[in-house]
Amino acid sequence: MAGKITTAVLQEMTARGEKIAMLTAYDYLTAEIIDKVGVDVILVGDTLAMVVAGHETTLPITLENMLYHTEIVARATKRALVVGDLPFMSYQVSPEQALVSAGRMMKEGRAHAVKLEGGRRMVPTIKRIVGAGIPIMGHIGLTPQSVFKFGGYKLQGGTANEAQRILESAKALENAGCFALVLEKIPQGLAARVSEALTIPTIGIGAGPHCDGQVLVLHDMLGIFEKFHPKFVKVYANLGPLMRDAFSRYVADVKQGVFPAPEHSYD
Ligand code: KIV
Repeated sequence: MAGKITTAVLQEMTARGEKIAMLTAYDYLTAEIIDKVGVDVILVGDTLAMVVAGHETTLPITLENMLYHTEIVARATKRALVVGDLPFMSYQVSPEQALVSAGRMMKEGRAHAVKLEGGRRMVPTIKRIVGAGIPIMGHIGLTPQSVFKFGGYKLQGGTANEAQRILESAKALENAGCFALVLEKIPQGLAARVSEALTIPTIGIGAGPHCDGQVLVLHDMLGIFEKFHPKFVKVYANLGPLMRDAFSRYVADVKQGVFPAPEHSYD
């Protein structure tokens, strides 16, 4: 375990004010690169449904799909903590169902921790899973599995009542045993209040700079996911146009007979 990021290491980082860098990954080679550059937490997110499988929302992805990708990412990872996301309807039915799904994520997916969405109503489920020795990351604010309830990917916590509800949920999730909490698409002032109120790390996405860490979806920060562009995404490399250019030049080369050239051919 020497040098490996554990849930305890993340909590120590937060205690000494060191920010946590988290990214999503879904395949071996990308996870290997991300791990080597020092990303602390790799989330095999259910955004897999949208950025890899091409669905409109995260809802259609199955536990089997998530287990397949999580095992691949875990095998590529030497240092980072690998968190497997529990997909829609793999944990909402009962704490027992959630425990079975979380157990499969650890045993078959080889994850080091699991993540699930939801506020105070998830407390009994979280206690059941943590009680079995499985670390849980919570996720509140905009929880994409509830997109149809919210009526879109809208900012959450914008009113005083909503903000209070999110703050109380955050405290309840910490007390239930979460080791960290994702805060998605909430006002930065509220994220600061939540981060101040908790001792566990908060990991923001669209929640401003005052969280203890940040997470982005890989395909967003690489400019490959082009269906919509949330304001909170920073594009670190715009690979969409680069990929289109490479594929178009390949097609042109093949059509014109200039690829393969002599250096690509065997005598
Ligand atoms: O599934 C995912 O990628 C996530 C991030 C948006 C935090 O939950």
